[in-house]
Amino acid sequence: MLVLGIESSCDETGIALYDSAAGLLSHALHSQVAMHAEYGGVVPELASRDHIRRVVPLLRETFERAGRQLDDVDAIAYTRGPGLSGALLVGCAFAEALGVAIDKPTLPVHHLEGHLLSPLLSSDPPTFPFVALLVSGGHTQLMRVEGVGRYELLGETLDDAAGEAFDKSAKLLGLPYPGGALLSKLAEQGQPGVYKLPRPMLHTPDLNFSFSGLKTAVLTLVREQTELSERFKADAACAFQEAIVEVLLKKSLKALKQTGLKQLVVAGGVGANRQLRSTLNEEAKRKHFRVYYPELEFCTDNGAMIALAGCLRLQAGTPAKPAGSFSVQPRWPLMEMSDRAAR
Ligand code: KG4
Ligand code: ZN
Repeated sequence: MLVLGIESSCDETGIALYDSAAGLLSHALHSQVAMHAEYGGVVPELASRDHIRRVVPLLRETFERAGRQLDDVDAIAYTRGPGLSGALLVGCAFAEALGVAIDKPTLPVHHLEGHLLSPLLSSDPPTFPFVALLVSGGHTQLMRVEGVGRYELLGETLDDAAGEAFDKSAKLLGLPYPGGALLSKLAEQGQPGVYKLPRPMLHTPDLNFSFSGLKTAVLTLVREQTELSERFKADAACAFQEAIVEVLLKKSLKALKQTGLKQLVVAGGVGANRQLRSTLNEEAKRKHFRVYYPELEFCTDNGAMIALAGCLRLQAGTPAKPAGSFSVQPRWPLMEMSDRAAR
């Protein structure tokens, strides 16, 4: 089965071809980072317009690289939500129109399910069941994943997402968009222990998170300075990263203990964070569990995870629908995708 995947939920246009037997055949991505940088953040209307410009060239590139024709496709999977409504509408309208043109069915995919399943794209994938730590720009959740569509929410953030905390703290430190990745680079030059920031909800018995207080602590630290020197910024970035990584680590360990599982999957943009990875890897060795990440290029938004999620859904029996009618879902709780939801 050959599935075309289309991702356009935010500021990346991603297209991919995933084959149920051969795996990922090809993918192409365009990031709008340079365009939005001028404005200090994502401008939704510009994002939508850029998706329109990119989608056809990226599609051509993807098919050329795979040596396949449009007609080889069995189904078209696209991100239906959550995300920016205008950006989602571009991918959705394109997918549905293409489906009508080539007479192929479509399958709307949940963006977070794409992230959640993305480690299955790697050459050494995890096996079900596993605990998933989903850490993206808009979400921070711990989940027990038994299979495709079998998700149990173990805990989630009560306010800001981990990626959001990275981005907001980066802004407070005067770093340009996209802040999260830049903050983590800067943190590597900082000296640990110069500043101590709070670890919100570290010792609560549940598996929930809260990161807005951490962001406020960064703000307080910034306000105490007469000037934001490079030294200060690096040390503050280091303190921030240490705090957030410790919370993510401790809650993940708690989730593994609670479920009795031995596999942890880390997905979403913050999963690209080097300190998070090295800390989890060390702990995995010490505590005898395994930790899996998507390849770095599939940590942030991409078409491959949407093609994969679409293919796995179809294999699990979710029906594709005749192309032509469409709607997007800018807000869409992941648990709505679960057969055995713990709601
Ligand atoms: O998964 P993603 O690409 O988009 C969403 O679905 O939200 O995640 C984007 C988030 C942003 O908040 C970004 O700052 C964060 O991932 N991010 C990072 C790193 N790279 C991206 N955060 C920490 N360290 C990184 N290296
Ligand atoms: Zn994402």
